Amino acid sequence: MSRPQQITVLGATGSIGLSTLDVIARHPARYQVFALSGFTRLSELLALCVRHSPRFAVVPEAGAARRLQDDLLAAGLSTRVLVGEEGLCQVASDPEVDAVMAAIVGAAGLRPTLAAVEAGKKILLANKEALVMSGALFMQAVRKSGSVLLPIDSEHNAIFQCMPLDFSRGLSNVGVRRILLTASGGPFRQTPLAELAHVSPEQACAHPNWSMGRKISVDSASMMNKGLELIEACWLFDAKPSQVEVVIHPQSVIHSLVDYIDGSVLAQLGNPDMRTPIANALAWPERIDSGVAPLDLFAIARLDFQTPDEERFPCLRLARQAAEASNSAPAMLNAANEVAVTAFLDGRVRYPEIASIIEEVLNLEAVVAVDDLEAVFIADAKARQLAGQWLSRHGR
Ligand SMILES: NC(=O)c1ccc[n+]([C@@H]2O[C@H](COP(=O)([O-])OP(=O)(O)OC[C@H]3O[C@@H](n4cnc5c(N)ncnc54)[C@H](OP(=O)(O)O)[C@@H]3O)[C@@H](O)[C@H]2O)c1
Repeated sequence: MSRPQQITVLGATGSIGLSTLDVIARHPARYQVFALSGFTRLSELLALCVRHSPRFAVVPEAGAARRLQDDLLAAGLSTRVLVGEEGLCQVASDPEVDAVMAAIVGAAGLRPTLAAVEAGKKILLANKEALVMSGALFMQAVRKSGSVLLPIDSEHNAIFQCMPLDFSRGLSNVGVRRILLTASGGPFRQTPLAELAHVSPEQACAHPNWSMGRKISVDSASMMNKGLELIEACWLFDAKPSQVEVVIHPQSVIHSLVDYIDGSVLAQLGNPDMRTPIANALAWPERIDSGVAPLDLFAIARLDFQTPDEERFPCLRLARQAAEASNSAPAMLNAANEVAVTAFLDGRVRYPEIASIIEEVLNLEAVVAVDDLEAVFIADAKARQLAGQWLSRHGR
């Protein structure tokens, strides 16, 4: 029997990281944890190391590394602790690693994910922000290294499963007319518009169907998540923004659809549980048990579809504009959103101001070409600076 595949989980202490480890633990003969990373939840990281005995753990700074190393030794583990972005890039690109789950949230995930791409690893991509920021460079690196890129976002994983067979071998999307990207509409789908100025971070994070990290939960409420996914879909499936249509589907049972020129529309359905796309990508092109309960269509009984309302969801309009403008615009959109969402979660801005901050940043700065990673980070930094200026000007 062949050796178990060695898996690095970047962002192991988060929602996707934990779901990934749940699937891996169901298949010990098939997968072994090579490395785990955490950022603030380091006692959880220690517990995960005790459970999965990785070769490496990565933490953000030297003091935390010393403490974790001591705790690991006391627990009788030989796991070596590495530090910072350099440590993340090392465990993402180590020659022994077969696949990397990229599940760090936000721009912080870009360099380690690219390190895994450049090393030709199989990439399980949850960190959509990495692809949104640097789409052209990211996809170029994938083609150059021959890395296999498998989407973890439930929508993109669904689209991937509905694409022509040749597509998964890097060939073509010939015959695809449209991609229909489904969205639940989040917790504020029916909230009266006048009440949106008073919603709390807790309300924004209380997603009706999915259990997720706080940043992506706010992005789901504002539908910026769908906007980022639209940009992600264009890169992953070689589509124009005009070919991607967003459909509100409150039940979150259909995870997305592909519309072909012969009139066929293929959909992927399932219970809203991230272990399905994670298991699909881990085992691709095979299938493995994910622990997800079978779908009960009779209990669901009906499936609804609506057009998104741009007045309610201005972030979706801003993301579509950034997708059309391409170049530095998606990196600026993403960075401004990260600053605005952090400020909202800290109670410094009201929910509708998230879109105001992003719109101002996009209006103030001209779109420029991004030919290398440095240009991406310059656009990212500029957007953070402008969003910061909005906050200071408003006394936040
Ligand atoms: N959750 C979902 O259902 C879902 C679905 C589709 C796509 N995604 C995408 O998957 C990614 C992860 O989402 P999530 O919901 O799992 O988020 P999460 O629960 O907030 O977890 C984020 C992970 O990233 C780590 N992290 C945070 N900031 C970091 C930094 N500056 N440097 C290094 N590591 C850092 C966190 O460490 P600590 O926890 O130790 O601080 C944690 O392990 C996001 O890009 C999201 O858009 C998530």
